[in-house]
Amino acid sequence: MDLSSTEQSPKMTLLANYQVPRYLVDEALLHFDLDKAKTRVISTLKMRLNPASEAGDCVFDGDSLDLISVKLNGKSLADSEYKVDSKSLIIPNVPEQFELEIITEIHPDQNTALEGLYHSGRLLCTQCEAEGFRRITYYPDRPDVMTVFTVTIVADAKQWPVMLSNGNLEEQGQFNDGRHWVRWHDPHPKPSYLFALVAGDLYCQQDHFTTMSGREVTLRIYVDPENKHKCDHALVSLKQSMKWDEEVYGREYDLDVFMIVAVNDFNMGAMENKGLNIFNAACVLATPETATDDDFYTIQSIVAHEYFHNWSGNRVTCRDWFQLSLKEGFTVMRDQSFSADLNSAAVQRIDDVNGLRSMQFAEDAGPMAHPVRPNSYIEISNFYTVTIYEKGAEVVRMIKTLVGDKGFRKGTDLYFDRHDGQAVTTDDFVKAIEDANSIDLSQFKRWYEQAGTPELTVNTQYDPVQQRFSLTLRQSCPATPGQETKLDFHIPVAVGLLDSDGNNMPMQLAQEKTAYDGDTRVLSLTETEQTFEFIHVSEEPVASVLRGFSAPVKLKYDLTNTQLAFLMAHDTDSFNRWDAGQQLMINVLLQIVDDIQKQNTLALSPLLLSQLEAVLNDEQLDPALIAKMLTLPTENYLAAQMPVADVDAIHQAREFAKRQIAVSLKPLFNARYESLSKQKKYQFNAEDMAARSLKNLCLSYLAATADPLQMQRCLRQMKVTDNMTELLAGLRLMVDQAGSEREHALRAFYEQWKHDRQVVDKWLSVQAVSKLPDTLLRVKALMKHEAFNIKNPNNVRALIGQFCRNNPVHFHAKDGSGYRFLAEQILKLDKLNPQVAARMLGALNSWRRYDIERQELMKASLEEIAAQKDLSADVYEIVTKYLA
Ligand code: PHE
Ligand code: ZN
Repeated sequence: MDLSSTEQSPKMTLLANYQVPRYLVDEALLHFDLDKAKTRVISTLKMRLNPASEAGDCVFDGDSLDLISVKLNGKSLADSEYKVDSKSLIIPNVPEQFELEIITEIHPDQNTALEGLYHSGRLLCTQCEAEGFRRITYYPDRPDVMTVFTVTIVADAKQWPVMLSNGNLEEQGQFNDGRHWVRWHDPHPKPSYLFALVAGDLYCQQDHFTTMSGREVTLRIYVDPENKHKCDHALVSLKQSMKWDEEVYGREYDLDVFMIVAVNDFNMGAMENKGLNIFNAACVLATPETATDDDFYTIQSIVAHEYFHNWSGNRVTCRDWFQLSLKEGFTVMRDQSFSADLNSAAVQRIDDVNGLRSMQFAEDAGPMAHPVRPNSYIEISNFYTVTIYEKGAEVVRMIKTLVGDKGFRKGTDLYFDRHDGQAVTTDDFVKAIEDANSIDLSQFKRWYEQAGTPELTVNTQYDPVQQRFSLTLRQSCPATPGQETKLDFHIPVAVGLLDSDGNNMPMQLAQEKTAYDGDTRVLSLTETEQTFEFIHVSEEPVASVLRGFSAPVKLKYDLTNTQLAFLMAHDTDSFNRWDAGQQLMINVLLQIVDDIQKQNTLALSPLLLSQLEAVLNDEQLDPALIAKMLTLPTENYLAAQMPVADVDAIHQAREFAKRQIAVSLKPLFNARYESLSKQKKYQFNAEDMAARSLKNLCLSYLAATADPLQMQRCLRQMKVTDNMTELLAGLRLMVDQAGSEREHALRAFYEQWKHDRQVVDKWLSVQAVSKLPDTLLRVKALMKHEAFNIKNPNNVRALIGQFCRNNPVHFHAKDGSGYRFLAEQILKLDKLNPQVAARMLGALNSWRRYDIERQELMKASLEEIAAQKDLSADVYEIVTKYLA
């Protein structure tokens, strides 16, 4: 099939073609006659010509709508007076100012794409970002059209007792025929992507928050009645978020009520609809018995993220979807610092960087690489990426590093003040920071424009006679699709110098009169190569470079394993301490991979072993950090460090190293495990979480000794624990060991938890990532299990997604079975839910980085997908970019 044929290819949207909207909507009155099978929407729009534009056809977006009628200024339009096709409604010859009434019908129960208005379990709900509103009614569905919405909902009172929309509830009433109605009004103008509606038989948990200016806000969480005991954590998190945004950014909430609804079928994590956040149930509901520490942690950060969008996203929104990172990068950066403030800042940074390196660096090095502000897209849903979110957050974080905390706050104050109620660009954001701080960030803005991960090479030289230490930094950035050459970035590089006792040394640059006051200083690299000369350096230091991961770059700094071990033991920057340990592990593991390939005998580096022993023995160190420092890099991350990834050797090397560490340090793991095993009632706080994480890490090493007694230990942990964190950790380890105990544990777990979807998803996931050889067969069997429904995105991610992304040895099986499985599922999913199908394709992002045989097999699967007729724009865009 010729993929370039124009009739096949969906349309590409270009940033360069941006034009202001021709007509504006001053007011939108929406009337919903709700019904699962057929919902009628009457939209009344007060419209006028945009003074910044010229008169012409008035164009509305639409998708999968049944158009019933159109009235202009009260007069019905004949068929000949408008044009309607599958994507738009066009009305020529409209006056400068007019009122339009559009009636459409939609079918929520047939909507498996989960965009627009859809049916999920016992409720009806909407998802409009990015372009879902056009599946509800014809509308100028773009973020720079901001409107005041008033929404009336009418429905059967028994089936739909709760009916919600954005803003404040104005009025409600009953009809005689068993139906009831409500009217919601949102005084804040907003784009259509922030519209939301929910109806259903929902339980509501309520709370209050008093804002900094003394206003009372009602907080409500709506959930299915069987989940009513799972709301506390989200409510606490919400209040923490509201308080933090007032204290740190001076941002106050602006409506009388803030609502969160939990939905079982949801494509993403959550959505920041004005005053009515809609959450994937898995990202909001938790009890200690059903959710792990990681879940609690994630929920806290997602609740914060969506709440923070009220200012960074809703009050100030995006001009067009190329500016997506304006709200997402900034908001992720905000939720990351919130989490750092409320928990362990060091652990937060390590997790954020780990995620960035394993996901975003791979995206930046692959066929979908795109700038933080992209220049083109076919399907905008494909651009809700780790680049837009996580790299975008790093870019904002670098700005903060460059202007300092106070300067950043001055900048964001100006940004919110200047652009409140507007739809703006990333340039506007940077401009506000520049204006507030009188600095020039024009070179810095290349971070928004150029894709690819820059490489930062470090060379050092010490002159003992002159007592000078020079640090030479060099940058380069690989080519990415559509961007052959790159201009130099402005890279903030945080450095410290350590003496042989591990103390920070004073830092004085050659041109300076006095030493720098502080242990870490930020150097600005703006040229291809720059040398920084430090004077009065009394002994040769070890430089600790890129402290706190001050820029999203790949560091090329050839430290010896001994120097890495030194930093791992002594660096005062906890991120770099952890990172030195990771680099040491990578060096050691890649050496083992090499030995496997050469069929040499294998041995584990005694240096690494003694370092790990020291960490494990360190009574001062935060147990959470110990757990992080003892965690080996993932197989996927190791694969990304090799020119040609050798899946099997990596797996073997990692398993070997893990067993060696386990066997050598068994008494220590034992002792730590026992000392952390004092029964204590579950609490979600940094200290207890840290203890549980180290305890579970010890157990995973103990299990790796292959001593059958350790399986008993897992079983015992599962039996006595009061929380999911420890229960699941035990199960996960049991699932890697064949035998009747494994089967029994899985069966018992399912019987205990089959009524709880979130727990069942964990049950699916642990089986999907099992190391046992028959895992793919098991995954296929599970797809037929009552617990699995392919229409539910959480099920798909838990089973298919986990297998394809986090089980590299089995997904990359030499016979291609994993790839064929994925292709088959994607084709099935594309008919149901294109967004989820396209996301699953991400498992093949790095396909060119494997051996030729595997590349051929992956290519065949991609081609099979590409050859399919009527592919969604979502899958089409990704598959063609992968094959290009
Ligand atoms: N805007 C949401 C967030 O990050 C993500 C999202 C995008 C949800 C598209 C649904 C659909 O907060
Ligand atoms: Zn967001």
